[in-house]
Amino acid sequence: MFKKLEILDEKDKHLRKKSEDVIFPLSNDEKKLIQRMIDHLTYSQIEEYEKKYDLRPGMGLAFPQVGINKKVIVIVHEYEDGKFDNYVFINPKIVSYSEEMIAAEAGEGCLSVNREVEGHVPRYARVTVEGYDEDGNKIKVRAREDLAIAFQHEIDHLNGILFYDRINKNKPFFTENEIRLI
Ligand code: NI
Repeated sequence: MFKKLEILDEKDKHLRKKSEDVIFPLSNDEKKLIQRMIDHLTYSQIEEYEKKYDLRPGMGLAFPQVGINKKVIVIVHEYEDGKFDNYVFINPKIVSYSEEMIAAEAGEGCLSVNREVEGHVPRYARVTVEGYDEDGNKIKVRAREDLAIAFQHEIDHLNGILFYDRINKNKPFFTENEIRLI
C-alpha cells in the first residue's frame, strides 16, 4: 500500500541545517525511507496516481526534507514518456562541472516550497557526481540538462540551501543571451 510521505515545509529548521555524512551500513529504516521517497516521486509524476493520492509532482528529494540531516538524495528522472530512472546517491559530491550555465525557463520548484517563486536559477549545464549506493559501493554519474539541475538542487538541500537563495533579487530573470534557458 502506498503511503504518502510527510515532506517538511521550508520553514522547518531541518531545511536550513547542513547534513552529515552517512556512515555505512544504512539502517533498515533508512533503506525503507529511501524506497518510500522513490515511490512518492515516481507516483507524483504519473498523472493517475498524482490525482489519486493528491501529490505535487516532483523529481527529487533529499533527506533533510523528511527530517533527517544526513547526506542522501533521491532523483526519479522521467527520461522518456512514462519511463523513469532512479538515482540514489549517498554522500554525493560534484567532482566536475561545465563552464556552460543553464536555467530552467519556468523556474524551479521544490516539494518543500509551497508557494510560487519566480526567477531563473543559474546552474551548470553538466555535472559529474560521485557518491555511494545504498550498499556503500562507489558510484558516479554524468548528468546534463534537467537531470544536472536536479542533482545541483538536491545537493544544495544537503547544505541547507534552497533554490530561491540562488535567484538574483535585483535581476531575477536572465535573457537568452546571458544563459541558456531550458
Ligand atoms: Ni527541493
